[in-house]
Amino acid sequence: TTVAQAAPSGRTPVTVAHRGASSYAPENTLASIDAADRRGFEWVENDVQRTKDGELVILHDNSLARTTNVEQVFPGRSPWNVADFTLKEIEKLDAGSWFGPKFRGERVPTLEDYMDEVENNDQSLLMELKSPELYPGIERQTLAELRRAGWLDKTHVKRHLIIQSFNADAIKTVHRLRPDVKTGFLGNPSVADLPKFAKYCDQINPVHTAVTPEYVAAVHGLKGPHSRPLDLYTWTVDDPATAVKVAALGVDGIITNKPDVVRDALGGS
Ligand code: G3P
Ligand code: CA
Repeated sequence: TTVAQAAPSGRTPVTVAHRGASSYAPENTLASIDAADRRGFEWVENDVQRTKDGELVILHDNSLARTTNVEQVFPGRSPWNVADFTLKEIEKLDAGSWFGPKFRGERVPTLEDYMDEVENNDQSLLMELKSPELYPGIERQTLAELRRAGWLDKTHVKRHLIIQSFNADAIKTVHRLRPDVKTGFLGNPSVADLPKFAKYCDQINPVHTAVTPEYVAAVHGLKGPHSRPLDLYTWTVDDPATAVKVAALGVDGIITNKPDVVRDALGGS
């Protein structure tokens, strides 16, 4: 298409379904990744946090209040932070009704259940460690769980995994523990600082308003820890005009709540 040809890289960016296809199903649930799968999207994004009893679960906000019925089930436990609830308690919550009645009964997934579903769907995962500063050791724990699930196995070639965070220290830790795992930094470091990030990040993932031709060129001009040019995935792009614009600037990935809108805008099939 004209857009793909306009991109300096000559490639159409990868479309990543943000928190799953979260305009069509409740974010960060199994329904949201199934919604992406049904629309033919390989890549999904999620957010990993930890419960009071040390279990990894998929949730964006630090609090359960916005995306579950926790206020009704556990009144008086304000501010309903995930870190203050056990997995058994969280399993009692409905994480779908807030979005629509047909999603009633959706659960906050454990990382383990989420990985099973991603694997069943043959999807690839851009995994965010959300607020890792609240959860000491979550980098090692997440890697251990991924290893148990087979996702760090080199023969596991069908699916891709990238671990990203707004917290640079967490990404440094992931890289130190498992240098073979691809990583991304969420944010837009200055061009002068990019070489430092290139030591341990394969991707720089800025908000779309920070994407300029100069910035894309600076990112692409550096090689990451795996001796390949850094990639740039941008977020969160839900309108066609912005998708066309960032694609023309040569981004490698577009993270979106509306993957089919982005695909249509880029003329993809
Ligand atoms: O993957 C990019 C995006 O998820 C970052 O922002 O707040 O949606 O986690 P947020
Ligand atoms: Ca995220």
